[in-house]
Amino acid sequence: MKVIIINGPNLNLLGKRETDIYGKMSFDEFLHQLRNQYQEHQIAYFQSNVEGELIDKIQETGFEYDGIIMNAAGYSHTSVAIADAIRGIKTHVIEVHISNVFSREDYRQTLLTASACVGSISGLGLYGYKLALDFLLHQKSSE
Ligand code: DQA
Repeated sequence: MKVIIINGPNLNLLGKRETDIYGKMSFDEFLHQLRNQYQEHQIAYFQSNVEGELIDKIQETGFEYDGIIMNAAGYSHTSVAIADAIRGIKTHVIEVHISNVFSREDYRQTLLTASACVGSISGLGLYGYKLALDFLLHQKSSE
């Protein structure tokens, strides 16, 4: 199975950024572990701080990959354009938030992207990406 994880702005700083909220592990370290656990699957990764680059990647992979796991980070709360890109593709997208956005500031509780996704996971740390992957595998095997 061919899956891509797409991370949005500031997630390149995981492990250094607000570690009380997002934890001490870098995404590279997490991804290394995930790829080791799922060696029979292809897990591509893309991170950008730029909205248009995220949209380009959604369009590029959204007709070819078996699943997209997306954390649009701050853009989840603001980007009509990313939500439209998710609606415009064929590949199923699972939204992941590391922190529980519903227990944080009010402005984080609007998620423009979530309704365009198959489902979303919030507040389960980096483990949320693994759960999203398990869901996509489960979905594929029951096709
Ligand atoms: C986040 C939550 C967002 O509100 C925030 O802007 C992020 C990360 C999360 O993974 O918890 O950058 O998407």
